[in-house]
Amino acid sequence: MGGNKTVDSLKHGVCGEIFIPGDKSISHRSIMFSSLGDKAVRITNFLNAQDCLSTVACMRSLGINIKQIGLYGLQEPQCIVDAGNSGTTLRLMMGILAPQPFLTTFTGDASLHKRPMGRVIKPLSAMGAHIVGRENAKFLPVTLIPTQKLKGIDYQMPMASAQVKSAILLAGMYADGETRVTEPYTSRDHTEKMLETFGVSLHKEGTSITIKAVESVHSPDHIEVPGDISSAAFWLVAASIIPGSELTLRNVGVNPTRTGILDVLGDMGADITLVNKCFSGKEPVADLVVKSAALHGTTFGAEIIPRLVDEIPVIAVAAMFAEGETVITGAGELRVKETDRLDAITAEFNKLADCIIATEDGLTIKGSAKLKAASCLSYHDHRIAMALAIAGAAGAGVTIENAECVNISYPEFYATLETLRK
Ligand code: S3P
Repeated sequence: MGGNKTVDSLKHGVCGEIFIPGDKSISHRSIMFSSLGDKAVRITNFLNAQDCLSTVACMRSLGINIKQIGLYGLQEPQCIVDAGNSGTTLRLMMGILAPQPFLTTFTGDASLHKRPMGRVIKPLSAMGAHIVGRENAKFLPVTLIPTQKLKGIDYQMPMASAQVKSAILLAGMYADGETRVTEPYTSRDHTEKMLETFGVSLHKEGTSITIKAVESVHSPDHIEVPGDISSAAFWLVAASIIPGSELTLRNVGVNPTRTGILDVLGDMGADITLVNKCFSGKEPVADLVVKSAALHGTTFGAEIIPRLVDEIPVIAVAAMFAEGETVITGAGELRVKETDRLDAITAEFNKLADCIIATEDGLTIKGSAKLKAASCLSYHDHRIAMALAIAGAAGAGVTIENAECVNISYPEFYATLETLRK
């Protein structure tokens, strides 16, 4: 991967409307769960980005016929299955495949090889799965070896993670008895919502979810994927910090387990209104109208982090333009994302304005920074690249190295940014 991208400073506010592409988390799940169901499913507004295409490729290796539809019946893959850059693909599919009577070996890209897999392998092994991986089952490559029928467990997760929770619930569907998983704080609940659409019943109590072994999975005819609030986040911040802006972001998923960014930007003084509220299946959707506003610093911590975990890079950009200090704590999970995002934000955003200090589990950002133009590294991390682009557009410009990594979640990102110049 090569390729630099220069984003010039915007000379005026950003106005108009943007149709937000499909949600990445929901797109992954729509393919995976359709592959477990009893009939073909039509999926619309699927996110055609590299991460979701990794899920499509993995499922094809497992014999699933995906055109616009998935067909039931996983088979032993004839090759090593490659999850690319996608932690969601890998971790959820480990949950799906651990109970299967065949062998699967997973690989991924350099970033995925560094990310912790023990957090999924440990509970799946406690259910009786036989999984081997590098460094004592902690990292890729990972092989799932067929074993006896899994048994349900009652598992207390050490961290809030939708990927880990989902892997356990998916394995629990094919395990004897009941499986209960409890998180310290509630993470995104797209798995729970979509499984209900597939006729699977779950019991929720506080931050615990219980699932029983299922006989069969009944597919819906159609899944419409709502727009991704994690992609909308870049435009929410751009319009908030660039004076004279007004954007309407169409068709954004506003599941409460994902709307932490609306709460934090609201606390910072942002002007965001939700209109045209409706549902897409069980997922709430709305159009978001955002106008520029004078932002001020804020403080937030562990409890809200799972509801905005992917938005912290762009929230850090908002904080650079806000008056006063922003303090983020309880965000240690950012150190095990596509890159160590706390270090990446600190090293690269500080090239634009020296105003961020990283702590072990968070950031302190001194606002009202005067930004200068600079050349910054993306660390091949899509959300770092897009956050840098917004900082540069709102500030004095930026050159982003390895800028094409935005294709992981938002291939149209730069083209959309260009339309806002007109
Ligand atoms: C995701 C869960 C989150 C998030 C990731 C997508 C999902 O990861 O960061 O982009 O679709 O379940 P964790 O579960 O590791 O927090």
